[in-house]
Amino acid sequence: MSFETMRQDKWNEAYERRGNILFYPHEEIIRFINKYVRKRTGISDFSDIMPLSASEWKEFASLDIGCGIGRHMKLLDEFGLNPYGMDLSDRAIEEGKRWMRSLGKQDVADRMTVASVTELPYDDEFFNICVSHSVLDCMPRETAEKGLNEAFRVLKKKGLMYLDFYMDDAKGDFEEPVLSGFDKGTVKSYFTVKGINDFIGDKGTICECKIIRASDAAAGDMEYGCRAHVTIQKNMQ
Ligand SMILES: C[S@@+](CC[C@H](N)C(=O)[O-])C[C@H]1O[C@@H](n2cnc3c(N)ncnc32)[C@H](O)[C@@H]1O
Repeated sequence: MSFETMRQDKWNEAYERRGNILFYPHEEIIRFINKYVRKRTGISDFSDIMPLSASEWKEFASLDIGCGIGRHMKLLDEFGLNPYGMDLSDRAIEEGKRWMRSLGKQDVADRMTVASVTELPYDDEFFNICVSHSVLDCMPRETAEKGLNEAFRVLKKKGLMYLDFYMDDAKGDFEEPVLSGFDKGTVKSYFTVKGINDFIGDKGTICECKIIRASDAAAGDMEYGCRAHVTIQKNMQ
């Protein structure tokens, strides 16, 4: 059994535990779209933010890398951003296609594909934006590096990418197996700000690196999560 098949099995198991069946978008993806791509200004009004020509907007395509059941594809579709999505888990894609069909979105269902980040089934420079929430940090760093190269390959020059990363200030850059919970058997990678900068390297320019720390004041300010939400623009070469 190849490593990729083994990982696919682990993610299929996670979806069978129903721990990752998420229907509503993450607020940082909503913010990324509204701030950098296209802002919703009314019930059916949008104002374009990316500086593209009318013909470029007509051809616009977006990609959700590791789309799960497609909650962010649904959001991208609502913004008229022609979403494609891929995920390693065939269970997730199957469920996502069923969901999109139930919404009358056969076109979105048809653009959901089973694939690995290490080999994206799309042409070079096809997408204007890529989003990927809680994906490149949910795998070994070496796989994530291949995935990032692929993401930049399929992104147009000056295109925008949203990624997020687990952080743990006390431990630095490291990866560890997940021993319990819905995603038991998978691997999580943690990054520092320097680690994120090294990871992106000269492939893109970081426009924003927003760090959100969650803590519970009712539990003595115990910190229970920290993530960096990063917006990157692909460089011209
Ligand atoms: C924590 S879930 C996030 C799902 C989705 N982005 C969301 O926000 O709902 C991580 C996802 O990454 C996918 N994944 C893990 N390794 C992958 C790989 N090598 N290639 C593509 N997808 C992968 C998993 O199948 C899973 O759907």
